[in-house]
Amino acid sequence: PRVLLLNGPNLNMLGRREPEIYGRGSLADLEAACRRRAGELGLGLECRQSNHEGALVDWIQEAPGQFDGLVINPGALTHTSVALLDALQAVQLPTIEVHLSNIHRREAFRHHSYVSLAADGVIVGLGRRGYLLALEALADKLGSQVE
Ligand code: DQA
Repeated sequence: PRVLLLNGPNLNMLGRREPEIYGRGSLADLEAACRRRAGELGLGLECRQSNHEGALVDWIQEAPGQFDGLVINPGALTHTSVALLDALQAVQLPTIEVHLSNIHRREAFRHHSYVSLAADGVIVGLGRRGYLLALEALADKLGSQVE
């Protein structure tokens, strides 16, 4: 099975951006860890990041046929984007939403996620580990052979 990992706006700044909230490692480190875990789980993984809502919408629209599942951290678009929600609902791929921080322990405007309406599962507040757990959940869901 093939999984597409999408990171939204400002996640390219990981390591430099509010490290007390988002951690000290870079996006490249995070993606490398995800690639390792995906390999162990028997998943193919493609990692993409964009600061642009439309790019993320395009990638989601193009995913069926190329990918069997999605892991997405939409960044701030989580709380604003009906367009991302609509794209996810249009493609109907197994989807896990991930947030590094616990959005429910932060400002009220972060408590609501449009994307969650289209997510099979949501992982918040566990930092990078959340992405690895999302891959494990998708491997289960997609019936990957390797443990
Ligand atoms: C985030 C939480 C969002 O509220 C924020 O805008 C982000 C990152 C997280 O991973 O904790 O950019 O999605």
